[in-house]
Amino acid sequence: MVNLENPHLFQHNALKPHTWFLPTSSPDLPIPYFPEETNRALSLNGLWQFRFFTSPAYLPEDISSIISGENAEKIPVPGCWELSGYDQPQYLNFFYPFPVDPPHVPNENPTGVYQRTFSVPDDWSQFDLHLTFLGVSSAFEVYLDGEFIGASQGSRLISEFDLSPHLHELSEHALTVVVHKWCAGAYLEDQDQWRLHGIFRDVYLTARPRHHLEDVQFTADYDHHSGFGSLKVATRSNTGQPLSTRIRLVSPSGETIFDDLVNSDIPFVKEIEDVQPWSAEVPTLYQMSLETLDANGNSLEVIGFSVGFRSIEVRDQQLWLNGRSILLKGVNHHEFDPDTGWTVSRELMEKDVRLMKQANINTVRNSHYPNHPYWYVLCDQYGLYLVDEADLETHGFQITGDWAELSDSEEWLPAYLDRAERMVSANRNHPAIIIWSLGNESGCGKNHERMAAWIREVDSTRPIHYEGAGDASFVDLVSTMYPTVKSIRKAGENKAEDSRPYFMCEYAHAMGNSPGSLREYWEAIYNYPRLVGGCVWDWVDQGLRDPHQAPENADFLYGGDFGDQPNDGNFCINGLIDPDRNPHPGLEELKFWQQPVAVNEINPEEGTITIHNRYAFRSLNHLRLTYSIQNAVEVLGEGEIKLPDIAAGTSATVSLLALKNFSALAGPFYLNIQFSLLEPCSWAPEGHVVARMQHVIHENYPIEFIKHSRNNPFSLTGNGPVVQVQSTSQTFSLDRSTGWINSWKVEDTELLLLPLKLNIWRAPTDNDIHVSKEWLLDGLNRTHAHLDSMVVEEAPNEILVLTRGTLAADGFKPHSAYEIIYHFKSDNTLQIDLHYTALRLETRLPRLGFSSQLVQAYDEVEWLGRGPQESYPDRKDSAFFGHYAKKISDLYHPYLRPQENGNRSDVLWVTFKGKGSPDISFIGHPFINFNAQFISLENLTQSDHPSELAWEKRPYIYMDAAQTGLGSNACGPDTLAKYQLNPEDLHFSFMTKAE
Ligand code: GAL
Ligand code: MG
Repeated sequence: MVNLENPHLFQHNALKPHTWFLPTSSPDLPIPYFPEETNRALSLNGLWQFRFFTSPAYLPEDISSIISGENAEKIPVPGCWELSGYDQPQYLNFFYPFPVDPPHVPNENPTGVYQRTFSVPDDWSQFDLHLTFLGVSSAFEVYLDGEFIGASQGSRLISEFDLSPHLHELSEHALTVVVHKWCAGAYLEDQDQWRLHGIFRDVYLTARPRHHLEDVQFTADYDHHSGFGSLKVATRSNTGQPLSTRIRLVSPSGETIFDDLVNSDIPFVKEIEDVQPWSAEVPTLYQMSLETLDANGNSLEVIGFSVGFRSIEVRDQQLWLNGRSILLKGVNHHEFDPDTGWTVSRELMEKDVRLMKQANINTVRNSHYPNHPYWYVLCDQYGLYLVDEADLETHGFQITGDWAELSDSEEWLPAYLDRAERMVSANRNHPAIIIWSLGNESGCGKNHERMAAWIREVDSTRPIHYEGAGDASFVDLVSTMYPTVKSIRKAGENKAEDSRPYFMCEYAHAMGNSPGSLREYWEAIYNYPRLVGGCVWDWVDQGLRDPHQAPENADFLYGGDFGDQPNDGNFCINGLIDPDRNPHPGLEELKFWQQPVAVNEINPEEGTITIHNRYAFRSLNHLRLTYSIQNAVEVLGEGEIKLPDIAAGTSATVSLLALKNFSALAGPFYLNIQFSLLEPCSWAPEGHVVARMQHVIHENYPIEFIKHSRNNPFSLTGNGPVVQVQSTSQTFSLDRSTGWINSWKVEDTELLLLPLKLNIWRAPTDNDIHVSKEWLLDGLNRTHAHLDSMVVEEAPNEILVLTRGTLAADGFKPHSAYEIIYHFKSDNTLQIDLHYTALRLETRLPRLGFSSQLVQAYDEVEWLGRGPQESYPDRKDSAFFGHYAKKISDLYHPYLRPQENGNRSDVLWVTFKGKGSPDISFIGHPFINFNAQFISLENLTQSDHPSELAWEKRPYIYMDAAQTGLGSNACGPDTLAKYQLNPEDLHFSFMTKAE
């Protein structure tokens, strides 16, 4: 067994790092990306025999012999052994899962022995045989027919071995791979994620001619002034002897640009005119093949690449691609599948890319390690800018007092450089990668500087990023995590005059119901050229599907659910989409703020709108503009406008004459505009909406929209323990001891199961994590109302009930006071006015409003307000004002850890409907927030997983004046002050109607 605790010795007998490719046999064949796609590779994926040991100490002497027989245990490769029933998954954010005593790892170091057989295809006898592992966590040794072949570390780095010298004439070979959970290298892999182990990416063999190209590195530069592309190809043969190589480049339309015979190992340079450049917006790719030939000119092997010509440059505090300043509209992306963990299928990778493109995302930070090789292929093809990050994080040292202990240690330098070298060597031919990142959260040390220097030497074309470096001079971008809006504005103003762009490698912590304030971030980014964008944390919730529940409605598990100790709970559930790739509402908001088209101005008097093209490269010719003008109840006009040629980065004013018809009339009117794809493209069908916006033509929200019933006054029919107020159709009863309406009848039908009473609580969101501690300390979750007085008055046109009281938790002084006036009006409506006063509230309110539970089986809801998705004060721009109808159950948004969800804001009225029951409406005066859910607030607050939710038949309803915003505070800044509900005094008024 190799020494696992030597930080210098992370590989034994491994082949030199080189660009990733699969060989094939003809230049006319498509480039293979999986072993199944070429006759020169053999996949070794599948079921392997497996045995698990709790420590390498228990391994027998002859490792190869241990597994045999029909009854041997089997495990899928690729896969993570924790998800096949061995050991257990553990979720940790930054704590090391073992004592911090580098380079030592526990003696109880779980070890899995994998074994399988394979036969070398008959026609491969003249080839060298290479064995490739795309990802093994965290260290492994390879044995062939009992003989030690080599060993490697670096979980997300490629390891390759030459089997040829060890290959004896056998019809079948036995391959044994011993995988150790931990090794010295694990100190460099303390990323915040599920800690999983095993052979989790593909394993395969390739057949290489004895004399072959070991490496092919190229740059494909683009000169935007001349339109020339410059292709520089450097090859290296395995013997050091040049190899006759035919290099051919084919244009996107299939035309051969050149077809040259050269000698390998001598740099090849080609200037090509009129090149079509690559960008995320227009990801044009050329195809290059390198065919090696023997002395007689016979073809030996073909290696193919997609080539994207582009330039990337940091200049004037901006990032320039092909001469245009670009913005990075990004997300952080972990490789994750809810059933197979770190093992991700090609279909899932492709799904992620398509979903990102559909959501106007143009950048991905490979947080925090190089991905599966196919990921890069997809990003080249579909067009996504990549920040490719080294598999390197030592976050656990932050709490030991010397975060840079390893990053500054000479002893660990080779391992740091290895992680840079193996990433850059494997991936640098991909146009999608525009930035190299030295890793994540590893303090800042000399080793980082050395990595940067090494990278610059081999690839001077790309800027270098490392957040931990702050503004140190060895990075080309100033990068931060979770800055406040205020601080990015300051960076945008750049008083310190740093010539580098400012990039948020992480912002907007999308944990649970989140993130707030994308508006403020993006307004700043669009405003200050130095702010080049950022990447939301993060793309997908890393919840593992509970294997013990029916898959259709199984919970997604997080830290602690497997009995893993210690753990960081649900801090791995921070995605814009759920593990099954269903979007959370935050994705729609991100899509909105990152959309490539803006309508900056509308001029109803002139009948014009001004359109701004935010693309860096494309005109808007691929888009169709459609509009509709609507008032609160109906669509008044709609149509399509032919878009003029609006070049990238420019604006144009176009006529929308229909607007004039409304300019003089009383509003409000809304102009809804959308830009959709004229033709299908690789990532979306025709008609896919790329951008949409809503403008209010007149800001005026009269309640005239709500039809009032005919005159039907109330009279006072009881004034004892129960105050009863009645019209010909409705009866309200108010309880003298509480002051709440505890019965509301239409004819004889009771509507309320629970009294309609004040409520200030919400089930804390994940981003409420800090403030909710204050809420609990102040007892906001167990506040009772104390009625101080209740007065009934019969006025000429209405009956008034005035109540006054305070709110307090047991053992605490009252924190708030209220006055509620119930106006039972002659038009058969009830208007409720609340006047709230804070007395000694030390924290903001979660929400403020009324709640109840309806007694009848209501199941439908219709409203006029923002929708259709949920919205909150700091995440509502993508929820347009309109008239919506839904099933009440569909108001609920299933966050993985149950929490506040489903609020609809800026609502003029909402009506609940149920078969055989009277319609009930609540009408804002002018606006309310509403919600309705079939689970109680207590149940929602206490549940850790959806399966703990007790769904009832009758909905709880909420009519709120306001809610506190969402913010980003689980990891990022608190909710902006203007979105916090901090009322000293607040008036809230709404009406009810039932018929
Ligand atoms: C960052 C870190 C990420 C993740 C995130 C919190 O500090 O880089 O890996 O831990 O915080 O969700
Ligand atoms: Mg970390």
